[in-house]
Amino acid sequence: MSLLFSFALVVLPFLPGFDGFSWHTQRECRYSSEDLKDIEFIHRYIYNKLEQVRYNSTLNKFIGYTELGVKHAEKWNQDGTADQTHTNVDGYCRPNAELYFKNILWHTVEPSVEVLSVKSGSQRHSTMLVCSAYNFYPEGIKLTWLRDGKEVKTDVTSTEELYDGDWYHQIHSYLELTPTSGETIACQVQHSSLPKPKIYNWDPSMSDGDRNKVIIGTSGLVLGLILSLAGVIYYKKKSTGRILVPTS
Ligand SMILES: *[C@@H]1O[C@H](CO)[C@@H](O)[C@H](O)[C@H]1NC(C)=O
Repeated sequence: MSLLFSFALVVLPFLPGFDGFSWHTQRECRYSSEDLKDIEFIHRYIYNKLEQVRYNSTLNKFIGYTELGVKHAEKWNQDGTADQTHTNVDGYCRPNAELYFKNILWHTVEPSVEVLSVKSGSQRHSTMLVCSAYNFYPEGIKLTWLRDGKEVKTDVTSTEELYDGDWYHQIHSYLELTPTSGETIACQVQHSSLPKPKIYNWDPSMSDGDRNKVIIGTSGLVLGLILSLAGVIYYKKKSTGRILVPTS
């Protein structure tokens, strides 16, 4: 696992002119493992999108990238600014990195999984099943198809692990098959949130889509019956009422 965390902080957006002159600085804490052995503090000074000077804690030096930046770097490397800036490694980066590992990076969230049948595109097989795992964290999951407990490897395709953009991921694995009656088809999920592999059986009785159609159809029928019944009662009452009106 390789992690790179940058925490950007715009310290001074400074806009004296209408079209804008922009001056900002960006602080980054970079590290790739939990032991934080390679932790690095970077502080960039950027004027109009051009990086002028950068502090790099690994070198404990400022490096200038423009004429002005070079002048600043020379000065700051000598007057103690570099050493002063270096204190951010232990004062700012390390405690934050530890918090991130403790509170976020080592958390796990179990996926919600469903196994459904979808239309098969192939001629060879009658059925295509999809095993979808949603909203798991972190990345790194394994879906395996089991046919009566034995792993199936042929006619299996899968998407990549897709990033949802909100820390969570999803993945979809497809199995094409011609089911025989009595067998059990299952999707096995392995993920760091689960102490042991979890198995989700496919329920061939009815797909969710079919079930919804039946529910909607039945509700429509019931509603129709109620309305016609109400109509009949109303009509009966009205006609009875008319008869009740004295005729003499
Ligand atoms: C900081 O300096 C080290 C050592 O030269 C280098 O490996 C690293 O890439 C530099 N980091 C940045 C962001 O410039």
